[in-house]
Amino acid sequence: MRPLIAGNWKMHGLRADGLALARAVAAGAGDVAAELLVCPPFTLLAAIAEALSGGPVAVGAQDCHAAPKGAHTGDVSAPMVRDAGARFVILGHSERRADHGESDGLVRAKAEAAIGAGLVPIVCVGESEAQRLAGQAELVVTAQVDGSLPDGFAAAGGVVAYEPVWAIGTGRTPTEAEIAAIHAAIRSGLRTRFGAAGEGMRILYGGSVKPGNAAGILALPHVDGALVGGASLVAEDFLAIARAG
Ligand code: 13P
Repeated sequence: MRPLIAGNWKMHGLRADGLALARAVAAGAGDVAAELLVCPPFTLLAAIAEALSGGPVAVGAQDCHAAPKGAHTGDVSAPMVRDAGARFVILGHSERRADHGESDGLVRAKAEAAIGAGLVPIVCVGESEAQRLAGQAELVVTAQVDGSLPDGFAAAGGVVAYEPVWAIGTGRTPTEAEIAAIHAAIRSGLRTRFGAAGEGMRILYGGSVKPGNAAGILALPHVDGALVGGASLVAEDFLAIARAG
């Protein structure tokens, strides 16, 4: 399966530096075999989608509302995101689950809305450090996958991203064996739920992916790409991760 290397810029990027970063990623993408995706903040979606149009780097959003339109001040709908030029949308990131109290049920409704608008959802799951220490990582993650994915997820090419909460932005990662074990458990859940289609769905790893650890992580079974935070803000680092795949 062709790996997907996705950059989640989070709440970073003003117009000038965001456009420069996106252009630098596109300019260096020539020798990258992996599929590349950048997910800038909403404010830059349209400008970056336009700047990257027709090139090798796709654009995604970091969230969308579950309703297509309505009285939801400050929110952005899936059709709006699609209209701005995005093809993907990250949903249920642990920062949104924590900052905005997003539940599996809400993430599932957002994923349904995304699919309805023609977007490819990337649904994030991951255990807290306390849950891992209690030996519950696999249980927590497979339950989140079950609860957060709508039935049409496989047919829409939906992507799952495993991001242990304690590995995000900390420089710490699980061991390769621990990553492989969770990805195998997610794959098994996807097979049970979606049958043969579950085999072809991408499962990304995210959490302190850097140029130095990317090759080892991306070589693991059932790791079909990476969701990169901090290192995606430096074009050379993001491209180095993509080349490691
Ligand atoms: P870092 O790569 O900065 O750890 O962030 C990972 C992440 O949250 C991507 O969605």
